[in-house]
Amino acid sequence: MSQPIVRRDFVPGSDYSPEFHRLVMERVWPKVWQVACRVEEIAEVGDYVNYEIGRESILVVRSAQDKIRAFYNVCPHRGRRLRDDERGNLSSIFCGYHAGTFDLNGKPVTIPEREDWHGCPRGNREARGIMAR
Ligand code: FES
Repeated sequence: MSQPIVRRDFVPGSDYSPEFHRLVMERVWPKVWQVACRVEEIAEVGDYVNYEIGRESILVVRSAQDKIRAFYNVCPHRGRRLRDDERGNLSSIFCGYHAGTFDLNGKPVTIPEREDWHGCPRGNREARGIMAR
């Protein structure tokens, strides 16, 4: 008799309640490494993958031939999601709400209505811009 590939008690399927799901999202996923994509999927500078885990959305971007960055997929101004698509290639990261742009390292490039940022430090050109993961 062959062994099952996955133990039946490994994930308690019968007990996978909303509360169990909430606990996994709160206590497991934020503390373990995630496989967002394969390096080959973002081979060219500007290639990106929008990795979603639970309620989080992370942009994984090849910012240079030898550098890959990951950012929360959220504009630091008003929290609009920056990219809705699954993957693609871009030369800068554009926010569709107020047209702010960030370079591939997440630094602000264009900040329209700067006075509306009310001192948000991520709106400062010297600041990091998009929150890195
Ligand atoms: S919400 Fe992104 S620039 Fe305002």
